[in-house]
Amino acid sequence: MTPESFVAVAEWLSRLDTNTWLTSEWRGRIIDPAIVALAVRNKRNRLFLVKSDGKPCGVVALADIDLVDRVAMIWYFLGDTASGGRGVTSAAVKALVRLAFEELEIETLYAWIIDGNEPSRRVLEKNGFREVGRMRQAATRSGGRFDRVYFDLTRNNLTA
Ligand SMILES: CC(C)(COP(=O)(O)OP(=O)(O)OC[C@H]1O[C@@H](n2cnc3c(N)ncnc32)[C@H](O)[C@@H]1OP(=O)(O)O)[C@@H](O)C(=O)NCCC(=O)NCCS
Repeated sequence: MTPESFVAVAEWLSRLDTNTWLTSEWRGRIIDPAIVALAVRNKRNRLFLVKSDGKPCGVVALADIDLVDRVAMIWYFLGDTASGGRGVTSAAVKALVRLAFEELEIETLYAWIIDGNEPSRRVLEKNGFREVGRMRQAATRSGGRFDRVYFDLTRNNLTA
């Protein structure tokens, strides 16, 4: 992701109906483009702009990249909600999974969703992630507490 997209990405991330499903560092707040720039500069992150028909529409990313254990967390969101349900994010996650395994030599990817985030669960399942467990009552959202549901995918399990 390059600096020209930081303003648009910050606007997308500031949408409460989007960030309500993300980790608490993004959740329920207005995001300044400088925060996006900081995230991009952090060596433990890799953020990628997703395009549909040549138009930027979302982000897929790795966080908590650990090159000793070769583990990273994958996360994503759609900024242009009109592009939803067309497989755009699933395809972008597929490409990022390949990049993580083949270029970054990650061995295990993981993700977590707030329980009830069915579109995100589908994105993970369509990419071969499997549910590995839940951390109970570990996320706050809309004034309630919810489980985090964890998923993983190992390089060996990657399907063709
Ligand atoms: C999750 C998100 C990125 C999905 O983006 P997308 O481009 O619409 O995803 P895709 O089209 O690739 O796949 C979505 C899948 O969820 C399904 N889906 C959508 N709403 C659903 C619902 N309420 N219940 C069950 N499945 C649902 C779609 O049908 C599709 O599955 P299919 O291909 O089997 O039909 C988008 O909804 C988003 O930005 N959500 C808010 C942020 C977020 O939750 N990020 C993930 C944090 S872990």
